[in-house]
Amino acid sequence: MIIEETAKPLRLASMLEESYDGRGNFKRYLKVYSSDDFKTAAEQMGDQPLHTERFAPFKVMEEAFRNYWAKLAGNASDVTTVELTALPKIASGKVRELFSIDDNTLLFVTSDRISAFDIVMNNGVPQKGCLLTMLSKHWFSVLPELVPGLRTHFLATDLPVGLSDRELSCLTGRTMQVRKYKVFPLECIVRGYLTGSSWNEYMTKGTVHGIQLPRGLQQCAAIPGGPIYTPSTKAPAGLHDENIHPYQAIEMIGEQYARRIEELALKVFKAGQDYAAQRGIIIADTKFEFGLDESTDEIVLIDEVLTPDSSHMWPKNKYEPGREQESFDKEPLRKWLRAMGLEGKEGVSIPDDIALETSQRYKDVFTLLTGQSLNTALQA
Ligand SMILES: Nc1ncnc2c1ncn2[C@@H]1O[C@H](COP(=O)(O)OP(=O)(O)OP(=O)(O)O)[C@@H](O)[C@H]1O
Ligand SMILES: [Mg+2]
Repeated sequence: MIIEETAKPLRLASMLEESYDGRGNFKRYLKVYSSDDFKTAAEQMGDQPLHTERFAPFKVMEEAFRNYWAKLAGNASDVTTVELTALPKIASGKVRELFSIDDNTLLFVTSDRISAFDIVMNNGVPQKGCLLTMLSKHWFSVLPELVPGLRTHFLATDLPVGLSDRELSCLTGRTMQVRKYKVFPLECIVRGYLTGSSWNEYMTKGTVHGIQLPRGLQQCAAIPGGPIYTPSTKAPAGLHDENIHPYQAIEMIGEQYARRIEELALKVFKAGQDYAAQRGIIIADTKFEFGLDESTDEIVLIDEVLTPDSSHMWPKNKYEPGREQESFDKEPLRKWLRAMGLEGKEGVSIPDDIALETSQRYKDVFTLLTGQSLNTALQA
């Protein structure tokens, strides 16, 4: 039997083996290189564990894997590279590819690539690029209503003309046309809760980005007095961003811009937090990016906005300070990387179950925030 190569190259193809019993008979086996893969297949089907030995009779295994792949087939293809013949690529980030439409307009393409601990994984998370794009689009329509005067880089989700059918099918749902701006070299982080690196710094020094906080706060506690602005540098590819104190941001971009950005970042964060809270989600922290419209000297919200890639989001009904929270982001992936000792290692391929679990988390938060499923949003 040949297991067809469908949407993705199958690791299983290498598992089919034949053995010769020396008496003129060939027996066919499926060799399971990773028993975890096989356990995953069985669990996904809701079956009793079948076999976890290295070898199992071909027929049983064939059926198991066929069902598993049939289940994945609908959404298994991940888009990790994007090349367009009609448009020049001007930049490639960890997740996005930027193409130039004209001097003032970019095509912002979000791939399914996923990074954790600053390293991009070999394979992607199915539909993640569409989820991030459609969620950002949602925020770009909601936020200017909540924050009067807010300007954003969003123009349209229409695809430019001149693309091939193949390019169109790969791009649908994952692109935005945006206005091109001069980007401030800051990651404009706003934190409402003590989690991740801010919790680590608080535990060791009692500060967050050098800002002194009251003693005795618990892990994941709300920051007393409300959200704080805690920028970091925007490091070039391959280097790590560095947390800085807001006064260092002033030194970097000048007092006038730094103050306006801080004020705007806090306003947008609070508006987003309130909106999400009404939908059962705590936005614990996030990272914004801002650009400068040089023709009007206005500050513009750019990049992706309030997505699970740029924010920590928690289900409100399960929130309890004093411990880590269940979160709607890459936590399943981070957990797996830690368990496998692969944190920060290059060249890691994510197993399908972890990729699907992560995809599901992104879908859940999308539906809660927008009130619709991704498919509905894509058809709109
Ligand atoms: N309107 C815009 N004009 C110009 N550049 C933009 C605009 N919006 C976003 N960008 C830039 O596009 C890139 C998006 O790519 P991506 O998110 O993959 O980068 P990244 O690897 O996450 O890098 P970073 O951590 O700096 O965002 C970012 O460098 C961002 O600064
Ligand atoms: Mg980015």
